[in-house]
Amino acid sequence: MELSRHGYADAPVGEAVPYSSSAEQDALVFTVNGREERLRVDPRVTLLDALRERLGLTGTKKGCDRGQCGACTVHVDGRRVLACLTLAVAVRGRSVTTIEGVSGHPAQRAFVECDGFQCGFCTPGQIMSAVAVIEDGRARTDEEIREAMSGNICRCGAYPNIVDAVQTAMNQDERAASTGDEVVRDAVV
Ligand code: FES
Ligand code: FES
Repeated sequence: MELSRHGYADAPVGEAVPYSSSAEQDALVFTVNGREERLRVDPRVTLLDALRERLGLTGTKKGCDRGQCGACTVHVDGRRVLACLTLAVAVRGRSVTTIEGVSGHPAQRAFVECDGFQCGFCTPGQIMSAVAVIEDGRARTDEEIREAMSGNICRCGAYPNIVDAVQTAMNQDERAASTGDEVVRDAVV
């Protein structure tokens, strides 16, 4: 295909111009919940869309799609990231953990026990943040937990119960650590 002097392919108005680059040709290889995945994706595809639409991992939610609600929170190499603001190609060779990968973590049980949700749409992102906050270990008081979880918006206003859930999970996690019980952590499977 001929490129114009601006680098755009010449095509009739209204006709989609297929995007192509050398990066698109390379398979994207990364680990999701302990399993190696290999995808061919357009370099503009977000990690959120790659997870949901290419890998069928629909537990990670698309709320605002612009970095403001936290519904799409996942972990990359153990750190919280917003999947809607992360390009899929940016996780090449990295380890991604989604809500499907923390099944059985105390945070999941605590959200149920403490009624930490109403409609549940924000809950996967809340739990992924809660797991990171518990692993980090710096937030101890309700106030500190609220601050650490402030990037996760709950339109149902379940905040008091969410804080209770994080406290409960933190206590269970510590009890398990002191007794040597196995606790499901990041990147399990
Ligand atoms: S969907 Fe990513 S922050 Fe809202
Ligand atoms: S439980 Fe409905 S948005 Fe949080």
